[in-house]
Amino acid sequence: MVSLVSASSSKGTWWKEGTAYQIYPASFKDSNGDGLGDIAGILSKVDYLKDLGVDIVWVSPMFESPQIDMGYDISNYEAVHAPYGTLEAMQALIDACHARGMKIILDLVINHTSAEHAWFKESRSSRDNPKRDWYIWKPPRHAEDGTRLPPTNWRSYFSGSTWEWDEHTQEYYLHLFAKEMPDLNWENKETRQAIYDSAMRFWLEKGVDGFRIDCVNMYSKRAGFLDAPIVDAAVFEQPAWSEYANGPRMHEFLREMNREVLDKYDTVTVGELPHTPDPQHVLRYVGSGDKQMSMVFQFDIVDIGQGASGKYRFQDWKLPQFKATVTKWQQFIEGTDGWTTSFCENHDQGRSVSRFASDAPEHREHSAKMLALMLTTLTGTLFIYQGQEIGMINVPKEWTIDQDYQDIESVNFFHNAIKVARQTMAGDQQAIQDEIDYIRRSIQILGRDNARTPMQWDDSNKSAGFTDRPEGGWMRTHDLYPEINVAKQQGDANSVLSFWKSMIRLRRSHKDLFVYGNFRIYEPGNEDTFVYAKTTVPAGEAAVGAGQAAVVVLNFTGKDQTVNLPSADEVGALRLQVGSYTDSAAAEDVDLAAGPGQQRTLRPWEGRLYMSL
Ligand code: GLC
Ligand code: CA
Repeated sequence: MVSLVSASSSKGTWWKEGTAYQIYPASFKDSNGDGLGDIAGILSKVDYLKDLGVDIVWVSPMFESPQIDMGYDISNYEAVHAPYGTLEAMQALIDACHARGMKIILDLVINHTSAEHAWFKESRSSRDNPKRDWYIWKPPRHAEDGTRLPPTNWRSYFSGSTWEWDEHTQEYYLHLFAKEMPDLNWENKETRQAIYDSAMRFWLEKGVDGFRIDCVNMYSKRAGFLDAPIVDAAVFEQPAWSEYANGPRMHEFLREMNREVLDKYDTVTVGELPHTPDPQHVLRYVGSGDKQMSMVFQFDIVDIGQGASGKYRFQDWKLPQFKATVTKWQQFIEGTDGWTTSFCENHDQGRSVSRFASDAPEHREHSAKMLALMLTTLTGTLFIYQGQEIGMINVPKEWTIDQDYQDIESVNFFHNAIKVARQTMAGDQQAIQDEIDYIRRSIQILGRDNARTPMQWDDSNKSAGFTDRPEGGWMRTHDLYPEINVAKQQGDANSVLSFWKSMIRLRRSHKDLFVYGNFRIYEPGNEDTFVYAKTTVPAGEAAVGAGQAAVVVLNFTGKDQTVNLPSADEVGALRLQVGSYTDSAAAEDVDLAAGPGQQRTLRPWEGRLYMSL
């Protein structure tokens, strides 16, 4: 019999057991009163992160950039965006993390550069420039009447075509995102070498401990550049990830990147992996002998509620879908040497309390703690996004797209949807208005700006202590900052922040169960509650010894719900370890050892964790 390596065979790895925390530099902390977060601001909060229990700090792009897409459009990998600080400031941040025993990773954005990058300026200067082939240039097509058409019908992530016409050299260049973000040509070996040097070695030599890799499966485009299938007949541009994601040379490129660069350092890599629903496929990236990354952010969890024909066309969902998603991406590594992540927020997503639970005033704290209980008990590396630890929520419904939202993706989507509605709804004013309201509502739930409002540190000023600038920060501060802020929660043992801290500590002291354990779900079809066990033994075996099982019960509704605990035969006798209500313990007066299959009643959005005796 072939014995597969189990996840626990490589226990003790820092990047598996460490808790990671993502910082979005623009919105974390402004140190110099210009309204924009900066590196000195991050430095001033390093002790806060340490105290929270963070082991790995992930800093979103702070490189030189014209900021068309908040720094994901990089014009020089080897320089820092001047308003954020300098290379010296970054070195100080790297050193400060290391001095506290923390690791630091950066964003590796190498599917594209900014159009302002020197490489692209050369590439577009003439057809015979030596760097012409560093980007993806194609001649036009022509319609029968001679009209010039782009090489394919691909839709960009930020609406409109992925192709931009270059008047000067009379060709189109490819951009999966904004037209100011041209895609690099990974087929060219010289380009790859330049990327490795400039974007990777440069920073690894300064001591960074790895990378979150942006758009990690988009470098290899499908050969031939064919039109994408039509799913939205109203418009020319079609979703085209089938043509550019997970292309034929993807695994080869990542193997090369490891061989030539990453393997020479003690690094962690976590890839952003959309459009990849098949676990066997994901395993090729993260394990099973052909390892290319430490782990990935598979997208099923953050795709919940997004529309199939357009991201901001919200689709209602039910709890079994959420549970099946968590279960799938917990279990897919069991019995393999692959690794997974526990996360549900980042800078591209609405806030989890608002999306997956309830941000109503009476429910939002309980919701935040319940979700924290879930995330800290799941297998894989835990990633927290700034503000999640205090239960920050989505922006209020009253905020307007034109004045308050900033994100290129949402703003473009909104205006494009209105344009299409006007063209296709033949003057039916009511239908057009309904469509606009629907998109606005969808963006309010799913929009990236929800995660990009300034961090709420205290109530010392109208910017929640994020900036001292009298007119406030670059982006509007959430109206609820007097109620949801760090200072208030630091002084409160029952706060969301205190709950996160204690759960991170508990996770660390029971790694076998929480970081490395096997996952079992109960009643997957139940639409109100989520009940699962983490065990140190394989599926199907009884986990009846002390410390062999943890059982998590979560109420995903605003009403009382009864849950059935797994039987004592299966997980042994249990005792309550922690509850998300301050009086959860008082609600427990039964010795579970007394009888199998006991029931408990959970209050709205309550979570409890039991451990085997
Ligand atoms: C990733 C980033 C996102 C960015 C895009 C283009 O999805 O997370 O913020 O817009 O890549 O770099
Ligand atoms: Ca600043």
